[in-house]
Amino acid sequence: MTLDAGETLAVVGESGCGKSLSAMAITGLVPPRAKLIADRIALKGKSLLGLREREWRGIRGRRIAVVFQDPMTSLDPCYTIEDQMREIGRQHLALDARALRARMLDLLRQVGISSPETRLSQYPHQLSGGLRQRVMIAIALMCEPELIIADEPTTALDVTIQAQVLRLLADLQKEHGFGLILITHDLGVVAGAADRIAVMYAGQVVESGPTDTVLSAPAHPYTEGLLHSIPVPGRTARGAPLGFIPGVVPRPDAPHTACGFINRCSRPVSACATPIALMPIDPAHAARCIRPCLGGQIVERHPATETAA
Ligand SMILES: Nc1ncnc2c1ncn2[C@@H]1O[C@H](COP(=O)(O)OP(=O)(O)O)[C@@H](O)[C@H]1O
Ligand SMILES: [Mg+2]
Repeated sequence: MTLDAGETLAVVGESGCGKSLSAMAITGLVPPRAKLIADRIALKGKSLLGLREREWRGIRGRRIAVVFQDPMTSLDPCYTIEDQMREIGRQHLALDARALRARMLDLLRQVGISSPETRLSQYPHQLSGGLRQRVMIAIALMCEPELIIADEPTTALDVTIQAQVLRLLADLQKEHGFGLILITHDLGVVAGAADRIAVMYAGQVVESGPTDTVLSAPAHPYTEGLLHSIPVPGRTARGAPLGFIPGVVPRPDAPHTACGFINRCSRPVSACATPIALMPIDPAHAARCIRPCLGGQIVERHPATETAA
């Protein structure tokens, strides 16, 4: 996966596909038992592989910030919003107490929180889910990061609040210019919100490309299946049943001896019983499939002639 400055990349896929773990690997925050195997993880050319904990401190929270799905579990219930924001500010910003408080109030205003003075002195349980998520976004913005990873930022929210939070992220991105990795299992939220999409399945990217292309002409049968399972205004006929993908996601840590989607695929052939590489369709669009749908037609591709990605 790559992300340009100021761009939004949506990472989509069913729960359990490895979206969160892959994103956390960027910040070096994988569980202690996990082994991180990557040729390259880099931020603006600086390698993030094998950094020491001290070096991470200059990157996590500062250059890369994370907004989690459920702010109730990532905000500490025992501390006020002010305490929690001040903690981050103290770690990373050289501001005196007054300047730091002014910065906190300004950030809360920027994320659309009215009467920020009152909110600063409150505890997380005194805020609604939407407000808590806004506080998390304000904390993420504290150090003007270059990259924000938002992991299911709207999944715990009501639909109406979801739209507000997505719009807020887009507005803040325009103003601050951070790159955004938006992780979601909900293809419905990415249409207007992302420049590009990476579809993940069983721990791998199975399709990536510009949002419009992937949504209007999905090449991988998994992406097709995901799109058929949600109502799309203008495309899903009224009263028509929604589709579903039979079966369940395999464990992402299962060895890749075949195409990971083979057991759920609508058009498998015997050649799918070997690991499939992510193969380019055009310079911007790629799919991990030997029978992708291109221009409305299934085409046969030969994995042996493609270089593994
Ligand atoms: N690349 C991987 N290698 C091995 N195990 C993985 C990998 N990615 C995910 N997993 C396993 O799958 C589980 C679900 O992954 P997670 O990232 O939480 O999925 P998602 O965020 O898409 O719901 C993880 O707890 C982990 O055990
Ligand atoms: Mg997740």
